[in-house]
Amino acid sequence: MEPGVVSVEGVEVLFTEEQIRDRVRALGEAITADYAGRAPVLISVLKGGTVFLADLLRRIHLPVRIDFMSISQYEEDARASGVVRIVKDLDQDIGDEDVVVVEDIIDTGLTLSYLLTSLWSRAPRSLEVCTLLDKSVRRIAPLEIRYTGFDCPDAFVVGYGLDLQERYRNLPFIVSLPRERLADADPDLLLPYLAAPGQGRGE
Ligand code: IMP
Ligand code: MG
Repeated sequence: MEPGVVSVEGVEVLFTEEQIRDRVRALGEAITADYAGRAPVLISVLKGGTVFLADLLRRIHLPVRIDFMSISQYEEDARASGVVRIVKDLDQDIGDEDVVVVEDIIDTGLTLSYLLTSLWSRAPRSLEVCTLLDKSVRRIAPLEIRYTGFDCPDAFVVGYGLDLQERYRNLPFIVSLPRERLADADPDLLLPYLAAPGQGRGE
C-alpha cells in the first residue's frame, strides 16, 4: 500500500474531491444561466444537503437567497408512505418565488416527493430540484429532477454531507459501502479516511 493511502475492506472512493468540485461548478454555471435576471431561493434539507449547498451557492452568480427545512426521520415501516414531519419549516414565504430544492441524494424519492407537494401548495412561481447524487435505480416515487451531479450506484454512500451514524459529513469526498456492511457497521469504520487528508483528492 502506498504511504498515506488508506483502504478499508469493501469501501471505495466513489467521487473524489476534484470530481465533485468540477460537477458543482458546472451545476452552478447551469443555474446561473437558466435563472439569469432572477433571484432564486435555494432550499436545503438539513442536514445532508448543507455541504453541497455551501459550495453550489458560491458557483451561482445571481442574488440568491437560502433557506432550510428539517424533517423527522421516518421509521422503516412508515417509509413506504413517504409521509414525513416538518420539524423546521422555511423562514420565508416562497409564494411567487423561483425555488430550487438542493438535495444531497435522492434515493427512493419518497421524502422529496412529499416535500415538493408541500412546497407546491405555497404557490411558488417555479420549483425545481438540484441533487448532487441520484440513486435512480432505487426510485419509487417518480420525480422530475432538473439538475443532477452524479448518478449513484445502489450502495450506501458517505461523505460531503452524507453521514454514517451522524459521522463523516466532513469528508471532502464520497465513499461507498456495500449494503451488507451497513447493518453492523462500526461507527469507527471510516476513521482512517478522516486521518488521511490527501485521500480522495483525485488530483
Ligand atoms: P428517500 O426518501 O429514499 O429518497 O431518502 C432520501 C434521504 O435518505 C436522503 O436525503 C438521505 O438523508 C438519506 N439517504 C439515502 N441514501 C443514503 C446514503 O446512501 N447515504 C446517506 N444517506 C442516505
Ligand atoms: Mg437529505
